[in-house]
Amino acid sequence: MIPSINPLVLNLKESATLLINNTVKDMRKQGREVAHFGFGQAAFPVPELLVDGLRQNAGENSYLPTQGLLPLREAFCGFLKSEFGLDYGVEDIFVGPGSKELIFQISYMVEGVLLAPAPSWVSYGPQATLRGKKLIPIETQRENSYKLTARELDKCCHARAQEQKLLILNNPNNPTGAVYNEEELREIADICRAYNVVVISDEIYAMIDFTGRPHASIAKYYPEGTIVSTGLSKSFAAGGYRLGMMVIPETLRVLKDALKSIISETFSAVSAPMQYSALTAYSRFDEIKDEIKQNTEIYKAASRYLWTRFLEMDLNCPKPQGAFYLFPDFDNYREKLRKKGILTGIQLAHDMLDQKGVGFLPGSDFYFPATNLGARVASVDFNGKEVRDKWPGGKLTDDQINDLFPNLVMGCDRMEEYLQNL
Ligand SMILES: Cc1ncc(COP(=O)(O)O)c(C=O)c1O
Repeated sequence: MIPSINPLVLNLKESATLLINNTVKDMRKQGREVAHFGFGQAAFPVPELLVDGLRQNAGENSYLPTQGLLPLREAFCGFLKSEFGLDYGVEDIFVGPGSKELIFQISYMVEGVLLAPAPSWVSYGPQATLRGKKLIPIETQRENSYKLTARELDKCCHARAQEQKLLILNNPNNPTGAVYNEEELREIADICRAYNVVVISDEIYAMIDFTGRPHASIAKYYPEGTIVSTGLSKSFAAGGYRLGMMVIPETLRVLKDALKSIISETFSAVSAPMQYSALTAYSRFDEIKDEIKQNTEIYKAASRYLWTRFLEMDLNCPKPQGAFYLFPDFDNYREKLRKKGILTGIQLAHDMLDQKGVGFLPGSDFYFPATNLGARVASVDFNGKEVRDKWPGGKLTDDQINDLFPNLVMGCDRMEEYLQNL
């Protein structure tokens, strides 16, 4: 039997990140040594506090409220206030099975186009496709670390002044590792206010920030139109727990009501033991803050190592300021690659994986044209627990880098070899 399928679903392909992850896994199973720069999963174990919270609450078997466990939402409000200076009440908070699902629900509910800077995270576009709407990429500049500027946004909004617009802004950023500062966000907020843009501020990497500045959220400058999403997946290293948090302000009450209805008619509520585990994370955050800070210091060292190597290879690459990604491009090798028959980012990514066992994602997965030679590199192919146990801190010697991040070193050596032999 071949049932007919919703054409919007037929337009989807398997998520680019999951696809490369599976290819790399298969290659490793076949005994090939691969540097996995393709998948952005936290490199550390889940903090013991969360594991314990989960263990202690394994017997919780009741359906929880649609919006989420009340003490969890209370604790999360306290966390938002103390860590990010954001003021919200429990009625503004929603708990979902990962922030990805919550972002999808908003994109599903809000009419109009979805605007996103190019490059942006791979899943926003397919989520919009599923709803039969378009993602409009707003091209950004490498010289500005691919951060959206108020002027670029203004131009795009002006051209669509009559339509409702939803903007998704990810800070710190996947795929570039860029971090917006307060001034940049303030300017973007002014444009959003002028055009009544609804903003989803995807802050899943909020605590993985190398700048030393307090985390800046656009919600501070545009509270009336900003929805914030975050969760346990990245800084709490618990992606597999599938727990995300979303904040919707009272000014967007109509969305809150609609989201409550959607949740109650779909996943009902997030699994109870997971919510109790998240409660330990947010209510006793002080106990794991140092661990999270140290993990961030390690992410910074890994990112900065890759960045230094990429510049030595004559790749163009903005300096990573947060998250665990870099976005180098191979523009300086375009001519040599062309002679080898490589004209697109996908061809380059395949050839590099094939020839050198180095996996990364091409720029076209991030809303750039096919011929863009940018690459999304994740810096987390290391054993976080081992690195933390040995962590010497301070500036690392070459020997220490070889010892702590062997796959990053191997991946860079092979990329360098590939480029030298072009
Ligand atoms: C930019 C960005 N947003 C959202 C998510 C989804 O996170 P979650 O695990 O909370 O669904 C990810 C995960 O890779 C991400 O990179």
